[in-house]
Amino acid sequence: MTVQPTRDEKFSFGLWTVGWTGQDPFGEATRKPVDPVEAVHRLSDMGAYGITFHDNDLIPFDADASERTLILKNFKAALEETSLTVPMITTNLFTHPVFKDGGFTSNDRSVRRFALRKVLANVDLAAEMDARTFVMWGGREGSEYDGSKDLSAAFDRMKEGIDTVAGYIKDKGYDLRIAIEPKPNEPRGDILLPTVGSALALINQLDHGDIVGVNPETGHEQMAGLNFTHSIAQALWSGKLFHIDLNGQRSIKYDQDLVFGHGDLTSAFFTVDLIENGFPGGGPSYDGPRHFDYKPSRTDGYDGVWASAEANMSMYLMLKERAQAFRADAEVQSAMKDSGVLNLSESTLGAGETTEDLLRDEASFESFDADAAAQRSFAFVRLNQLAMEHLLNAR
Ligand code: GCO
Ligand code: MN
Ligand code: MN
Repeated sequence: MTVQPTRDEKFSFGLWTVGWTGQDPFGEATRKPVDPVEAVHRLSDMGAYGITFHDNDLIPFDADASERTLILKNFKAALEETSLTVPMITTNLFTHPVFKDGGFTSNDRSVRRFALRKVLANVDLAAEMDARTFVMWGGREGSEYDGSKDLSAAFDRMKEGIDTVAGYIKDKGYDLRIAIEPKPNEPRGDILLPTVGSALALINQLDHGDIVGVNPETGHEQMAGLNFTHSIAQALWSGKLFHIDLNGQRSIKYDQDLVFGHGDLTSAFFTVDLIENGFPGGGPSYDGPRHFDYKPSRTDGYDGVWASAEANMSMYLMLKERAQAFRADAEVQSAMKDSGVLNLSESTLGAGETTEDLLRDEASFESFDADAAAQRSFAFVRLNQLAMEHLLNAR
């Protein structure tokens, strides 16, 4: 069963995803490069609404001005023909050997200045393409050896770099926001800003943090054994979920970039449940692109590339349908009630109640029967079993 997407679903793909030729650290490419114009048409035909790219996915690192103009002209013509959009753009600060010790945090100042110039030029391109999100993934910002980096200075330079770019966006009046993409490791042994939590903490220290949020990736949190749904929940709660990279990962290992849902399916169910249905008690919700950042397996030919692109959207839509059925089920609603899920929305202190009032409230402490309260069953297993039954379409 393949569920057909519509553009309203806001599915988008990185050009580098369907364009991945299968080259890995151990082996050569198993597929020929795809023409970006063909990628635009294919993705549009299958119901995606957007395509995203790194500057160098489209324009080679050493392209001259006339090559750049021609490439952009052809790409824009394909966008026009298909009405596919470019919701997000990002910068390649990792492939060229000059970035081997990072871009914003390289120990070499001339590299840092070059990286900043490359990013600023790409911000102009993002505005030209009418993108709304500018992703910053610092894959080379990190180290293999703890003694090789002055980490305090590295955070200073990271802040300086992001603030410079954000300040530039504001000066130019671009309708663009930055989204930092965390990852714990790979390609560096340890990457700065390894998790959503670390990125959120850095954003709080920025001068222009108001236009900086996060772009969490499913597999990146899961590589660190973390709960992706919790991570996006905290980003949402902080008003910082600006973009999302969906894919699949099976436990703590290298970055697998599998099709969404082909990794931890239970987690994918609750991710979609949160994105589509929101928090049970209300609160902030996500309205941005559903962006897939996956790699079609290098064992597959182009038939598999396009089938896997469809599979991402299909998995998402099947999970969306399952998650909606889960929320609509009266038995689930009563199970949620029994589990106290909705009670958590009630503030712990009463309206207008002060800490002093709480301290005077004997029922809350002095006469509170902790042993009796400990007897309560939260019945979380029953609730989860209902979720699994919905996930398996067994209800
Ligand atoms: C990865 C990352 C990248 C980024 C991309 C955006 O682990 O390779 O997920 O795919 O998403 O570089 O800047
Ligand atoms: Mn990844
Ligand atoms: Mn990503």
